[in-house]
Amino acid sequence: MTLPPTPFTRIVDCRLPLQQAGMGGVTTPALAAAVAAEGGLGMVAAAGLTSDQVCAQVAAALELAGNDARVGVNFLVPFLDDQALEAASQVAALVECFYGDPDAAIVERVHGGGALAAWQVGSRDEARAAVDAGCDVIVAQGVEAGGHVRGTSPLLPLLEEVRGATRVPLVAAGGVGTGAAMAEVLLAGADAVRVGTRFVATSEADVHPAYRDALLASGAGDTVLAEAFSMGWPHAPHRVLRQCVDASTLEPAMRSPLPPTRAFDGEVASAALYAGESVGAVTGVLPAAAVVRELIRDAEAVLQRAAVGRREHGG
Ligand SMILES: Cc1cc2nc3c(=O)[nH]c(=O)nc-3n(C[C@H](O)[C@H](O)[C@H](O)COP(=O)(O)O)c2cc1C
Repeated sequence: MTLPPTPFTRIVDCRLPLQQAGMGGVTTPALAAAVAAEGGLGMVAAAGLTSDQVCAQVAAALELAGNDARVGVNFLVPFLDDQALEAASQVAALVECFYGDPDAAIVERVHGGGALAAWQVGSRDEARAAVDAGCDVIVAQGVEAGGHVRGTSPLLPLLEEVRGATRVPLVAAGGVGTGAAMAEVLLAGADAVRVGTRFVATSEADVHPAYRDALLASGAGDTVLAEAFSMGWPHAPHRVLRQCVDASTLEPAMRSPLPPTRAFDGEVASAALYAGESVGAVTGVLPAAAVVRELIRDAEAVLQRAAVGRREHGG
């Protein structure tokens, strides 16, 4: 069995209903390329990059994965660089935004460059606003997600609400770290899943080894939603490992929201160690392609059992 095409795979023109989350600082062209080469949508994170750097990262990912691979670019609205948005829209398959009200002018500029437009949202109302703004794809982010969190609802009820409100291809994000969780959200009506934390613990991600070790040692109960790393980005709740909040003695407004990369030379224990409730599924540092294959293999097995069950019960 292979996962059947979905409205997401058709509109993005990729093989797998899987998007790697663009993660500021952590994402590398090699990570985006590995996911895209497997048939998913690889993402570059534009936060903090110039337009030349964004284009160079997309080009590098496509060179590694092949020009048929699908690579997108993620923007954080509070730090949006207009030139980078313009440039990304011309070279990426999809350009998406997060953490700002959906904006028809941005969507128009993305379409003008030739890319699909997407928005990661945290509520039904925000999803409706994204559809009204002209988005081609909506990402519904549940409160289980690692990194910055937009809404307050857990993923499954949010998915049901958003699914009921729009027919636009819908991606589910937040706490999806296993094939079983992937199958669950696909069965609940998602057209694809978006995975972040699992890809932080891959050989291609740019993360400090001590951050990776902390992820490996943690489970879902070890994360907390807080406003603990708010320097330059206040009033934006984020899910991190509880231990990094406990370890930090600075005021939240004095703590950098940047996750510790390989080059980080501060104290990792008290840096922003983002992690979703999916962190329990991080049991080793793998190449990103192995993570993709594991997710797909296990999701297929669950979906196959569900299909057999439906047949046996005359469904
Ligand atoms: C380390 C890290 C950095 C993130 N950075 C971004 C970002 O720059 N832009 C964005 O849209 N989402 C970002 N996110 C959130 C993801 O888009 C996604 O919602 C989340 O990873 C899904 O939950 P999961 O981590 O349980 O898979 C980040 C998440 C993590 C774990």
